[in-house]
Amino acid sequence: MSVETTVNGEPEEQIETEWTEYGFGGDAAFSVRDLDVYYDDDRALRSIDIDIPEESVTALIGPSGCGKSTFLRCLNRMNDRIRAARIEGSVAFRDRDIYGTDVDLVELRRRIGMVFQQPNPFPKSIRDNIAYGPRKHGDINTGLLSRLLGGDDREREEELVERCLRGAALWEEVSDRLDDNALGLSGGQQQRLCIARALAVDPEVILMDEPASALDPIATSKIEDLVEDLAEEYTVVIVTHNMQQAARISDQTAVFLTGGHLVEYGDTDQIFENPQSQRVEDYITGKFG
Ligand SMILES: Nc1ncnc2c1ncn2[C@@H]1O[C@H](COP(=O)(O)OP(=O)(O)OP(=O)(O)O)[C@@H](O)[C@H]1O
Ligand SMILES: [Mg+2]
Repeated sequence: MSVETTVNGEPEEQIETEWTEYGFGGDAAFSVRDLDVYYDDDRALRSIDIDIPEESVTALIGPSGCGKSTFLRCLNRMNDRIRAARIEGSVAFRDRDIYGTDVDLVELRRRIGMVFQQPNPFPKSIRDNIAYGPRKHGDINTGLLSRLLGGDDREREEELVERCLRGAALWEEVSDRLDDNALGLSGGQQQRLCIARALAVDPEVILMDEPASALDPIATSKIEDLVEDLAEEYTVVIVTHNMQQAARISDQTAVFLTGGHLVEYGDTDQIFENPQSQRVEDYITGKFG
């Protein structure tokens, strides 16, 4: 019997809705309904329905171009910055539609932070990288005027910098050089600094798009440990190309496949040990991708 394949070499398969029905205890941080994303006329995501639980790690996996980054960017409206992008359907964060007209985007992105594939620290000191967000939001004030008026928050800033660097498992390595330029740090340190910077504005969710793919194995394992720790306090959604990484650090896994379909979503152990979709099994076992 010959098996029909798609242009990408994946076996043809009817997607069953129950493959993405994942029942979990507790509340959903995000509820996504019938989400379609287009770039001009090209459809990048198709009818995505998914609930993402609070205070846990959700991994997004799938071959290149299947829409993982597009999906992640829908969760804090980063796609708004892409002129060609158009979104249909709904995304609720804590039961509130984030695409409503009354949504404050600065506040939304403070609550839902993002860490990118390439570490992108500001060309400023380590301290300033962390204090930047809270200063911008007016949460700490160390300027000349505030000093003259006696409202200097320097001590609070010191505490914040230390707390965030500790939270990102970087404090021990940089505590004696907080005023050095962040660009002098190694790639792995820069990425942890970006995580510390994301923590500084007191987010509720951290979205990560392949945060360790540019790093060596030791730096990668530090990021992995950190992600697991962060999930005790935050909701983490992470895109990764690394199956072992997804299996190690996530609680639930969503598998996207070619064409922008969410094909399977569930408990990470179940997805990796006993996937329901043949295409997901083929992808996980390295038959395509
Ligand atoms: N800014 C953009 N403008 C036009 N098309 C885009 C844009 N960003 C992504 N796309 C298209 O949308 C589809 C999904 O892309 P996306 O970057 O979300 O995939 P991905 O799963 O993150 O891939 P990768 O694993 O390579 O990062 C692709 O066909 C891509 O070419
Ligand atoms: Mg991507």
